[in-house]
Amino acid sequence: MWLPCGCTSKYVASSFARRTLASYLHVSGRSRCNVAAFMPEAAGLEGVSGRAALRELSVSNSESFWAAVARHRLCWSTPFHTVQDCDLSRGKIKWFEGGKLNVSVNCLDRHVHTCPERVALIWERDERGSEMKYTYGELLEMTCRLGNLLRRHGVKRGDCVTIYMPTCPLAVASMLACARIGAAHNVVFAGFSADALAERIRDGEMLLLIITVNQGVRGGKVTELKKTVDTAMQSCPTVKQVFVAMRTDNPVTMTARDIAMEEVREQKEMLKEDVVCEPAVMNSEDVLFLLYTSGSTGKPKGLVHTQAGYLLYAALTHRYVFSYHDGDVFGCVADIGWITGHSYVVYGPLANGATTVLFESTPIYPDPGRYWDMVERLKINQFYGAPTAIRLLLKYGDQWVNKYDRSTLKTLGSVGEPINTEAWEWYHRVVGDGRCPVVDTWWQTETGGICIAPRPSDPDAEIVPGMAMRPFFGINPVLMDTEGEVLTSNNTSGALCMAQPWPGMARTIHNNHQRFIDTYFQPYPGYFFTGDGAYRSEEGYYQITGRLDDVINVSGHRIGTAEIEDVVCPAVAESAVVGYTHSIKGQGVYAFVVLKKGIDVQEADLSRQLNGMVSEKIAKYASPDFIQFAKRLPKTRSGKIMRRVLRKVVESDLEGLGDLSTLDDPAAVQEIIQAITCRK
Ligand code: PRX
Repeated sequence: MWLPCGCTSKYVASSFARRTLASYLHVSGRSRCNVAAFMPEAAGLEGVSGRAALRELSVSNSESFWAAVARHRLCWSTPFHTVQDCDLSRGKIKWFEGGKLNVSVNCLDRHVHTCPERVALIWERDERGSEMKYTYGELLEMTCRLGNLLRRHGVKRGDCVTIYMPTCPLAVASMLACARIGAAHNVVFAGFSADALAERIRDGEMLLLIITVNQGVRGGKVTELKKTVDTAMQSCPTVKQVFVAMRTDNPVTMTARDIAMEEVREQKEMLKEDVVCEPAVMNSEDVLFLLYTSGSTGKPKGLVHTQAGYLLYAALTHRYVFSYHDGDVFGCVADIGWITGHSYVVYGPLANGATTVLFESTPIYPDPGRYWDMVERLKINQFYGAPTAIRLLLKYGDQWVNKYDRSTLKTLGSVGEPINTEAWEWYHRVVGDGRCPVVDTWWQTETGGICIAPRPSDPDAEIVPGMAMRPFFGINPVLMDTEGEVLTSNNTSGALCMAQPWPGMARTIHNNHQRFIDTYFQPYPGYFFTGDGAYRSEEGYYQITGRLDDVINVSGHRIGTAEIEDVVCPAVAESAVVGYTHSIKGQGVYAFVVLKKGIDVQEADLSRQLNGMVSEKIAKYASPDFIQFAKRLPKTRSGKIMRRVLRKVVESDLEGLGDLSTLDDPAAVQEIIQAITCRK
């Protein structure tokens, strides 16, 4: 229920909000120029007469732009003195130094102060029709109790807490509780295996504590999350405590290390705690969270995002890319274990005081009408999902969509991978009844929020299907040729880089700043290299053409081919993994393996074994769709596997094999082509 602003509640009375909120508020003056209705803080910017000028200024005078936006959109306890201090050639990125704030205050207290009964979260549980709503007041209370619980168990400012949970209110409260007490969180996708979880915990070094649930429930299936944590703990001696909440009624074995939190609504341990939790006063550049993602080596990297810049960027993109308006219900169906969940399920919407949906299920459970039934029931205004799900649902037919009332929908978003024209058109014509704009949003874990999207600064702008199109405020994309020169003309393709920093970008790789520099700033000195290729059309619109490195995108999940090879290799002599075009998943995993000499094994048995190993060591989605046995792999004379050639072979693009002059033995390619042809 929406209440008029100005109402009060027990939460406000009893929490930090009333006592100190005023000191966090530094809201700029009212609108003066004609863009003011669009972006009120722009009124204070000199020479901005329209939205195009505002977009231009956000790049040409980005300091003024971001300073105005930061003052207006965030509540600071101490104002910042320096807008930015960045040097991309050294991977140095600092925003809003001198500023102090608390992210949970920005996401909760300030809304509780005005509208405590506004719904913050709608938990769309796996069991259809059993959704639960949590007001801002309730979410603040849960966050404060949890913050106190963490503090009581020794978690301090600067520590890091791993969260291994499905998408649920307690997971959101856990993230915010960390933010409240100044600890960083490390959310690990609940589909990751025990080994993958352990690797992410160990890399964090200071990780003391884990929050999990007894079991997960997704698509009607139960997953043993607590058991997975138990297995992971065998190789994580630094973890002292595991908090366990109950998602199902099934008891799990508890050890001396485990602390029961009990049922989500009545967390017994948590109920002992006070609903007032003094927020830590954080510096703009203190760490907010680590989030592991795949790179082109076998080891996932823990990208680090900090407080003010990240929150500001998530909030601003949430509002402008999706044309979010106060009172809208925002439905992003991503899991909180990915960056999309962080930025557009949790931080962006909550910073804007939105009602955000937490989707626990799958697009086809219990039937392929699940999303649209949810849109009708929850009256969702913006729906944000992945092309892989759209492609899947398209195959089930229009009747599953048409059954439900979707008249509340205003904007449809797409993320994570390219959206092909057929899927885009179906999404637009059938799901959106031809009246909702489809925004294809390009961004990455590294960028913190959306960087390229069709309508960031003009809600009426033309949209070309399947194109991310226009840079967001403050984003300055460039395309580079193979010599490292900026391509200035249009109708051209190149490596996508960013010519200037923005507040939402990652600050480093946890424990490895050199890898951060080498990966993102060394390939094109002075620029941030995204790892993606892009095409810029005659009109200057951007279209993402795919990764330029050995990273593939399976159902929108990013995975390094080297990670899969590392798992497969111990069982075989050699392996090479490449991506190939998959009609539903976007990309599938194709693994080439060479057997150890003298090994006599049935190929089908070994394939099963290798698939099992990948599921167990990483996650099910990384498991190869095809395993091709080969006598040898094509290599350069210096012994490097030519994955570029393998990629072309699996796509049957034999014309496009390119320069083979560095191949050690061209016959190796012919053998592989022949083996694949026989298989087909
Ligand atoms: O290759 C791009 C692809 O997903 C990569 C980033 O993956 P991740 O860090 O897991 O974040 C996914 C959610 C933001 C990018 O380097 N990608 C993301 N969005 C798009 C995309 N490819 C094409 N079109 C997009 N809209």
